[in-house]
Amino acid sequence: MCGIVGYIGHRNAIPIVIEGIKRLEYRGYDSSGVAVIGSENTLGLFRRQGKVIELERSLPAPSKSAGNVAIAHTRWATHGEPSERNAHPHTNCEKTLAVAHNGIIENFKALRDRLEAEGCVFASETDTEVLPHLIGFFRQKGLDLTEAVRETLQLVDGTYGIAVVDTEQPDRIVAARKGSPLILGIGDDEFFVTSDVSAIIIHTKKVIYLEDREIVTVRRDGFEISTLDNISVEGKVSIVEWDVSSIDKGPYKHFMLKEIFEQPESVANAFRGRIADSLSTARLGGLGLPPQELRRIKQIQIIACGTSWHAGLIGSYIIEDIARVPVRVEYAGEYRYRNPIIPEDTLVLVISQSGETADTLAALREARARGVRVLGLTNVVGSTIARETDGGVYIHAGAEIGVASTKAFTSQVTVLTLLAVLLGRMRHLSPLEGAEILNELKHIPDKIQTILDMNVEIRAIAASMVDDRNALYLGRGVHYPVALEGALKLKEISYIHAEGYPAAEMKHGPIALIDKEMPVVAIAMRDALYDKIVSNLQEVKARHGRLITIVDGLDDQIEALSDHTLCIPATLPTLQPLLSVIPLQLLAYHVADLRNMNVDQPRNLAKSVTVE
Ligand code: M6R
Repeated sequence: MCGIVGYIGHRNAIPIVIEGIKRLEYRGYDSSGVAVIGSENTLGLFRRQGKVIELERSLPAPSKSAGNVAIAHTRWATHGEPSERNAHPHTNCEKTLAVAHNGIIENFKALRDRLEAEGCVFASETDTEVLPHLIGFFRQKGLDLTEAVRETLQLVDGTYGIAVVDTEQPDRIVAARKGSPLILGIGDDEFFVTSDVSAIIIHTKKVIYLEDREIVTVRRDGFEISTLDNISVEGKVSIVEWDVSSIDKGPYKHFMLKEIFEQPESVANAFRGRIADSLSTARLGGLGLPPQELRRIKQIQIIACGTSWHAGLIGSYIIEDIARVPVRVEYAGEYRYRNPIIPEDTLVLVISQSGETADTLAALREARARGVRVLGLTNVVGSTIARETDGGVYIHAGAEIGVASTKAFTSQVTVLTLLAVLLGRMRHLSPLEGAEILNELKHIPDKIQTILDMNVEIRAIAASMVDDRNALYLGRGVHYPVALEGALKLKEISYIHAEGYPAAEMKHGPIALIDKEMPVVAIAMRDALYDKIVSNLQEVKARHGRLITIVDGLDDQIEALSDHTLCIPATLPTLQPLLSVIPLQLLAYHVADLRNMNVDQPRNLAKSVTVE
């Protein structure tokens, strides 16, 4: 959730690492700091509460902070309030070395008690601070920095991605990971360490994704990787495929708006090359499963969090409908602790945009520990989940920077639709039915564009919700998870309390909340359940609720009931969520923007939740 960037080379390090952590601000942003090894081998330490810009403004003139080796950190508070003294990097008592850390040291209390008993004085409330003190302790015993880090990490329970600099070995950065991502960037006579490639791709696309329990020692002229048990490791060089433009806002006011508008392309990227027209089926080679095994699947368990969970729930409707394979959708945070039953011939599928979500990763490990094959749907190539699954599919949405997930969601739903067709064609789905879905899928990008062209209209509707304190989202069938997603989008970026419900459930409780103050956003498509949802809308209107309806065809009834109606293009029922979610994303965006909220970096949230 926090971000780390380190640099060692011949250039002035501070501007490089500061620029890097600015790109990571979407991950965590309550405070930040930088440690630089100065020309006299002194430690320059600068930290600030608030955004990276505050840190940047507080830095002394380059002449007083120049150095070619630096580490920087942007923090999302876990242990200790957001404040300057809790900001990273943290140092040992002698202030000879500094550590930036992502993750949580679970046994920090016991370690801290022992260190304090030996006279160590702590300067912060963080769990992290035990690390520099322990590394300093081993350095005093004569170990070099890499060995001191190795010894320290043997004592630690929990998760970490760390970067360490030391004034007494000023020619290196030592970095290590367990359960929190860490990447080595390889430039020309310069190296980078980072928790997220987007921080460094303007400098290099050549990277090595460190594995758990690996330590890298990086000097200006090279690097060595070894395990915590001191076994030397080669490290596989990968080339990052992202385009640098994907980490710029371009003409858009916010990343979230840019990412919403990228969906015609990102959805097309999710299905491109994956449709086998001649067989009317989908081609998902990354699954790594022969057709015989795919046919044998008797149940699917989908595990995810947040928006990815909503995509999974939509997937369950589509897969059950098309392939007739039962699907359970589980919150990863529940699954990992509740001793799940995984029957024979179950396929476990984890979904995670970032590929780093701690709960999803733990659930995946739990399923694999039980000998089950686990596949993954991720966006970030080389992420931990992508590497630890037995196979899977990249959604190819491109960098998603806005904390509120938008284009990743539609790409996940697109890939789940392909999976449904693939499984369906091996069971009951006829070639004609398969072709109908796949051909219509090819029209979805244009239809999304038609909805994006209604942006001004949607902003006007958003203006009617700006002062609201609550909102209700209703949908039936496959639109119920879309309603959940619409409500999540609104609450996370506008801070308006919002709930999503299956429309039929409204009368079992939430109807008590409806009065003229309550906006109700309802998805009312002309499918088999149309008449049912119209009845639900009558119930809202009878109680003076304000109705905003998303429809795929206008009629007098809906118009008479609705305060605002958005008519989106029609498509097959299976594919409707890919369209009906777009106005909800835009609605949430505009409400938040009109309320002057920090859309891309909502309070308390982080892009990838790498702690429990
Ligand atoms: O990276 P993941 O897909 O695993 O992330 C899961 C959730 O943390 C994420 O979807 C979160 O709910 C977003 N803020 C939603 O917009």
